[in-house]
Amino acid sequence: MISVKNVSYTYMKGTPFEKTALENISFDVAESEVLAIAGHTGSGKSTMIQIMAGLINLQSGSVEIDGLSVADKRIRRLVGIVFQYPEQQLFEETVELDIGFAPKNFGLSYIEISARVEEAMRQVGLPNDLKKVSPFELSGGQKRRVAIAGILALKPKYLILDEPTAGLDPLAKENLLKEIFGAVKKSGVTIILVSHNMEDIARFANRVIVLAQGKILFNGTPRELFAQDKILARAGLEPPPINQLLRKLNINEQALTLDEAEKIILKNLNKKACRL
Ligand SMILES: Nc1ncnc2c1ncn2[C@@H]1O[C@H](COP(=O)(O)OP(=O)(O)O)[C@@H](O)[C@H]1O
Ligand SMILES: [Mg+2]
Repeated sequence: MISVKNVSYTYMKGTPFEKTALENISFDVAESEVLAIAGHTGSGKSTMIQIMAGLINLQSGSVEIDGLSVADKRIRRLVGIVFQYPEQQLFEETVELDIGFAPKNFGLSYIEISARVEEAMRQVGLPNDLKKVSPFELSGGQKRRVAIAGILALKPKYLILDEPTAGLDPLAKENLLKEIFGAVKKSGVTIILVSHNMEDIARFANRVIVLAQGKILFNGTPRELFAQDKILARAGLEPPPINQLLRKLNINEQALTLDEAEKIILKNLNKKACRL
């Protein structure tokens, strides 16, 4: 479990450029859940996850991961973080070397590293024959997969993804999400997904936290969130199009998928037909 308690963070504290990014944030992440962190640009999402990964030092409050303080170096084995546009950090000559880079730094044996590289490639849907190829010859979507596989090869218990599909074309985005929430999730990792895409959150998250100007505005299920127009508006977020449609039809129910929306609409049409 990850436990975040009363965390506040201010950049460039004590200077005229001081900027408070987080204010008194508390929440827990349970094992095996998919927690989405949503919010407008500048709401504090990236700061929050970097604190959870121990990359930014705490100024106040506490973060514990499986009972260890986030300042404890041992948490580096537990938490894997994939930054926005992670492919910008690829640098090795081959896909295999890039994915195996961090496990190698952990001092794992060659056999263990190559087993982990193969497993991570499978999880993100990269064909095995790309192993010896230069990552720079791959498509944008494939590069992103290599970068994510490099983190998965560390076998983190908690995987934090900062806008993992930003900038990908719709097909690559869809495939990547299917892999992350299929094979990767099945391997048992707890996923923390930073996203402002409400449709993705509807489909994949068990729970969503909404940040606005460094504060938590909401913590609950996506279904509960989509009924909260005022909160969404304050956070600068829009409910998914299917929920907007339900609202236009004066149906006060929330759907997480197209199929569910269809059922709700048909049910309500039938009710209306009966009344006529
Ligand atoms: N390195 C930094 N130095 C100064 N201010 C920063 C820095 N990083 C982020 N901020 C500010 O902190 C706030 C939160 O930023 P961030 O955590 O990146 O939000 P998000 O990921 O939701 O877009 C913003 O106002 C941003 O301008
Ligand atoms: Mg960000």
